[in-house]
Amino acid sequence: MIFTVAIDGPAAAGKGTISKAVARHFGFAHLDTGSLYRAVGVKGGDPIQAALSLTQADLDRDDLRSLAAGQLASKVAAIPDVRAALVEFQRSFARREGGAVLDGRDIGTVICPEAEVKLFVSASAEVRARRRHKEVGGDLADVLREVIERDQRDANRADAPMRMADDAVLIDTSEMSIEQAVAAAISAVTAAFPTR
Ligand code: DC
Repeated sequence: MIFTVAIDGPAAAGKGTISKAVARHFGFAHLDTGSLYRAVGVKGGDPIQAALSLTQADLDRDDLRSLAAGQLASKVAAIPDVRAALVEFQRSFARREGGAVLDGRDIGTVICPEAEVKLFVSASAEVRARRRHKEVGGDLADVLREVIERDQRDANRADAPMRMADDAVLIDTSEMSIEQAVAAAISAVTAAFPTR
């Protein structure tokens, strides 16, 4: 069975938590596509070469979740040849046998426009900054600035900008608990996949 759940949205909206929970619920594989760009960003050197030669060890680094890695990722993600180097891996993951959940910025629009379910997970910048601040610490105002700057770069780049697909379901998690957001996502997937 081929079944793709595409989950896009801005930084720190809860995509990771929701994606993992949806994948677990339906027994699908999960790919956090942001980790690919983070790994390219922190690897250093020529980002195109880094994207062409990513290894599992690059993806297993424990510094990928930092604010600095997020900024580096957002910058290398604006380079068309970096994105091109990562497309095939993501597309074949999306259409693998057994179902897949991918979260990122361009999954429903560019990587897998044929995805059976598309979700766009969002929340106000303030709520997202507070959530990210709990993870990474530091100064809340700096985290808010980082989140806004990254969203602007990701939404305004020329190649595969972050955008909600026309046929995506919007889940605004600003006023939701994690449990409510996960339940909303699972029910959107169930609606397209009624045998589970
Ligand atoms: O989801 P994340 O915060 O880990 O993503 C880090 C950066 O990677 C994000 O700011 C933009 C880029 N990215 C992208 O351009 N396309 C994706 N599908 C996923 C992430």
